[in-house]
Amino acid sequence: RTFNIVCIPGDGIGVDITEAAVQVLTTLEKTFGTFNFKFDTLDWSSKKYRERGYYAPEGGIEALKKYDAIYFGAVGWPDVPDHISLWQMILPIRTTLNQYANVRPTRILPGTVSPLSGCAADPSALDWVIVRENSEGEYSGHGGVTPSSAHAAHTVATEVSIFTRAGIERIFRFAFETALTRPRKLLTMVTKSNAQRHGMVLWDAIFYEVAKEYEGRVKYDKMLVDAMTVRMVMRPQSLDTIVATNLHADILSDLAAALSGSIGIAPSSNLDPTREFPSMFEPIHGSAPDIAGQGIANPIGAFWSAAEMVRWLAGADGASNSEGIVQGGGVGNMVQAADCLMQAIANVTEKGVKTRDLGGQSGTKAVTDAVCEEIGNV
Ligand code: NAI
Ligand code: MG
Repeated sequence: RTFNIVCIPGDGIGVDITEAAVQVLTTLEKTFGTFNFKFDTLDWSSKKYRERGYYAPEGGIEALKKYDAIYFGAVGWPDVPDHISLWQMILPIRTTLNQYANVRPTRILPGTVSPLSGCAADPSALDWVIVRENSEGEYSGHGGVTPSSAHAAHTVATEVSIFTRAGIERIFRFAFETALTRPRKLLTMVTKSNAQRHGMVLWDAIFYEVAKEYEGRVKYDKMLVDAMTVRMVMRPQSLDTIVATNLHADILSDLAAALSGSIGIAPSSNLDPTREFPSMFEPIHGSAPDIAGQGIANPIGAFWSAAEMVRWLAGADGASNSEGIVQGGGVGNMVQAADCLMQAIANVTEKGVKTRDLGGQSGTKAVTDAVCEEIGNV
């Protein structure tokens, strides 16, 4: 089975880590021999934006629909305002391709140290999957500035969050299905319905409706987002699967990544659980202008995202459940290939081949080569 993958490396370290991920995926297909990747690459970078005035060309995002998956590096550079890259490319891809579920797993890798000193002794204390609502909420883009000049003394801006029943129901159902696949079967719902009394109250009400369908199968609880940051730091072992809005989960998942040791290891999947359109896989970090071009970016978040892509593609021929979560088996040993890649990453960090953000001395290339070698040994 051949999978057509389109790579959008973007800017800065996005380019380095995408190249590293392609090397690892190519090693994986050679090692397993039961599936193939055909890569196309699109230069939708900030450099191109400055040259020609756009990231994705007319019709470019529609054209992504012909691929099996999208592999994304990171986009954004100091000489282009960040809301332009976000709104001209990343957010339109997510909405056009119905990628309403953003899944962000977090674990502490062997041989690395978490800022949670209590966890360093017991890495299993931090093992979470954050499910982020990826299509609406605070990032709906509605609002405006009056008058349009931000310099006027009486300027007023609104930033309207939009919550729909359909949008809320589907992300909760996806989160419960995710919790079902986890050993602890525990779902924590994050909200701010004490202060935000419209959208967040609807969010809570629909949560308890959907929870009824999972009664006795998934344990669940509710947290205010501010208290949630405290619980993540003080009682990490009390959490398992977490569901939150677009903004809340954006912030909590950066905290989760930091608690697991480095933002450089954290992966994310932008999924269309209906599988009508391709899903997109990317590390959660950005283009890191401060370390770009030095060959020291941690490629593990990119590899983990690649493993998630392989796992997702394993369900391409119907081996996944109704929410698109692969339950085992799948296309041509691809679940095993994803597990193999994760094991190879763990073996490499355990041996101490780590980039500087994890306290090591190795560069991007050394870590990439070590993971490729380890794939053959697993
Ligand atoms: P960032 O994630 O690029 O960097 C934050 C800090 O983490 C920096 O000190 C950086 O050196 C470090 N870091 C990030 N990834 C690393 C890795 N793989 N290995 C080692 N260290 C790593 O976030 P920042 O600085 O806020 O954003 C930089 C640019 O990236 C901005 O233009 C922003 O808009 C964009 N961005 C793009 C994202 C995307 O494409 N999805 C996500 C986040 C930011
Ligand atoms: Mg973020």
